[in-house]
Amino acid sequence: MVAITEAVSLEKDGEIGMLWIDNPPVNALGHLVRKGLADGMEQAEKDDEIRAVVVICKGRTFCAGADIREFGKPPKAPHLPDVLNRFDQCQKPIIAAIHGTAFGGGLETALSSHFRVAVASARFGLPEVKLGLLPGAGGTQRMPRLIGPEKALAMITSGNPIGADKALEDGLIDEIIDGDLVEGAVGFAKQVLSENRPMVRVRDLSEKIARADAQIFDDFRKQLARCARGFEAPQACVDTVEAAVAKSFEDGLTYERKRFEELMNGSQSAAQRYYFFAERQVARIPDVTKDTVTMDIQKVGIIGAGTMGGGIAMNFANAGIPVTLVEAKQEFLDRGLGVIRKNYDISASRGKISSDDVDKRMELISGTIRMEDLADVDLVIEAVYENINLKKEIFSRLDNICKDGAILATNTSYLDVNEIAAQTARPESVLGLHFFSPANVMRLLEIVRAEKTSIPVLATAMAIAKKIKKIAVVVGVCYGFAGNRMFAQRKRESEKLILEGALPAQVDRVIYDFGFPMGPFALADLIGIDLGWDKDNSNSRTMQEMLCEQGRFGQKNGKGYYNYAEGSRAPGPAPEIDDLIVAFSQKKGYIRREISDEEILQRCIYPIINEGAKILEEKIAVRPSDLDVIWVNGYGWPVYRGGPMFYADLVGLDKVLDVLKKFQAEHGDDFKPAPLLEQLVSEGKNFGSLNA
Ligand SMILES: NC(=O)c1ccc[n+]([C@@H]2O[C@H](COP(=O)([O-])OP(=O)(O)OC[C@H]3O[C@@H](n4cnc5c(N)ncnc54)[C@H](O)[C@@H]3O)[C@@H](O)[C@H]2O)c1
Repeated sequence: MVAITEAVSLEKDGEIGMLWIDNPPVNALGHLVRKGLADGMEQAEKDDEIRAVVVICKGRTFCAGADIREFGKPPKAPHLPDVLNRFDQCQKPIIAAIHGTAFGGGLETALSSHFRVAVASARFGLPEVKLGLLPGAGGTQRMPRLIGPEKALAMITSGNPIGADKALEDGLIDEIIDGDLVEGAVGFAKQVLSENRPMVRVRDLSEKIARADAQIFDDFRKQLARCARGFEAPQACVDTVEAAVAKSFEDGLTYERKRFEELMNGSQSAAQRYYFFAERQVARIPDVTKDTVTMDIQKVGIIGAGTMGGGIAMNFANAGIPVTLVEAKQEFLDRGLGVIRKNYDISASRGKISSDDVDKRMELISGTIRMEDLADVDLVIEAVYENINLKKEIFSRLDNICKDGAILATNTSYLDVNEIAAQTARPESVLGLHFFSPANVMRLLEIVRAEKTSIPVLATAMAIAKKIKKIAVVVGVCYGFAGNRMFAQRKRESEKLILEGALPAQVDRVIYDFGFPMGPFALADLIGIDLGWDKDNSNSRTMQEMLCEQGRFGQKNGKGYYNYAEGSRAPGPAPEIDDLIVAFSQKKGYIRREISDEEILQRCIYPIINEGAKILEEKIAVRPSDLDVIWVNGYGWPVYRGGPMFYADLVGLDKVLDVLKKFQAEHGDDFKPAPLLEQLVSEGKNFGSLNA
């Protein structure tokens, strides 16, 4: 075995050269691997004894992609496209031997080999699009030649992997190896030599692209405009695959490079790459060390089988953890369990789970109306009405019922977790687990760390969140915690804007065009305008009261800020409400004016950023990127804009500050800049500088 670089070595097995990649943990194609592959291949070519080369990886996987740590740094030669072009040109057959995942540059390496073999568990994918990029080492040109443009488009624009069976069926690989990969790959290489099989250079294949139907490109563009609205990379992927059909291989490669670099230098990919790291960073809490001992959560109790309790119960049942669901009355319990079953049945009817799964999961959820049945659970999550006295009473009862060490959590959205914890003799075991609605769907979980929450309890909550596949963000106690506290800013401003002169449709269009799934008024209709409406004291003081008094509750009864056709969720015009808004605002003394889209955007977004800065100052959140994770996962912030704090850096904090000051002068202290924002601007820093 000869070491070519620290990450690549060449071994000779008779006439077969084994080019081993060993770059833990995932054999990413960093500089030492690229150089090792280039030099190793040159050496193998020069060696007369070697007649074929097997490219194979140590450890748990084939190359799982580019080394993302090198992104944004000056590229260091040899570059992957050049290395792979040399693979193409090699005079000796190259066989890629794949186990684990061949992703991104890893799969492009395999595509530049002359043959591909893989174990049955191997997976193949080009996930670049998920980072706002496209495969930039020939993937968009070779893949359509090998498996046809339609299948290539599906892989490249979705970024989703396929398994070995499908890869074999599609012609992506030549053989599935049963048993040992090294033996199988060497056997395959020997067979290639003995049969004198012609080397297949994917770049020279033309049959599948010659019979491509030109219509598929427009079909993909249209479909992506819907399901990946606002994203640039998927559209660029379609353009480059189309180029594979329309241009020569060389010209296609040049075009791919141009589009790759545009994306790499653009703000969307920067945001998506930033976000990728933000999601990994979020689990790191400065005073929770790796050696913190976590508790084993084997059984969970949930109190309240309403909207949230039912969804939360499903999360645990989905992870195979038994749940005891407590309700106040049998009929509420029956209703709650019925809703859970209905949700599972819908998933089964869509083929997402089997009917067997439905039964298994339902069996894991047992209902009761006796809180005493929670005596043996390891974790309780309370999800009763948002009423501090009710929650306090429940926590003091739980303290007597639950075993020592059991964690007591509340799903409250706004109430003071410290006050709730003080009802117990074990405040160190109390914290908030703030799920988002629908709790079985939304990935975000705010873990609310109260004053006395212990570190092992916090670490256990983080671990259990991971187990139920949530993205957990640790926040501190304050009204609305991080997410809802920031969100309240946009709600307030959007409601002010329609009184000052805008109409719901304009505000919603601006927010939708920014990339949110819907604007604030369409969202209010979806959530229900009557949420938080005090019917008995309603007196036409706000638009909410006006609408509710007229029985306009939103989508649930077909009318709110918009009108909804029978059975439709699409907001339709409601001129009567526009008139009502105009009359109401005039009665309130507003002199309505034309409001620009730019002002709407800034009025809705900049106060979110400002509130984020206050939250950081108060140490309610650990770092700015955690707030971005909250917004992307909990509030529909478009990931291609990174999150509000990343976006603020992109706009420039000095500009954000100037605009806030201008708004403060015009509209008052809702816009008073956070001291942290002022400080960062005066020091010439940005939020990114706080992302340790
Ligand atoms: N709905 C949301 O979008 C949302 C999101 C995040 C957090 N939350 C919070 O979650 C909690 C629950 O909200 P929800 O929307 O699920 O309310 P909900 O009204 O749908 O459900 C509350 C359930 O608690 C039950 N309950 C009341 N008192 C009880 C008792 N003593 N013992 C057992 N069960 C009792 C009720 O019968 C009801 O089924 C609230 O604190 C709320 O702020 C709600």
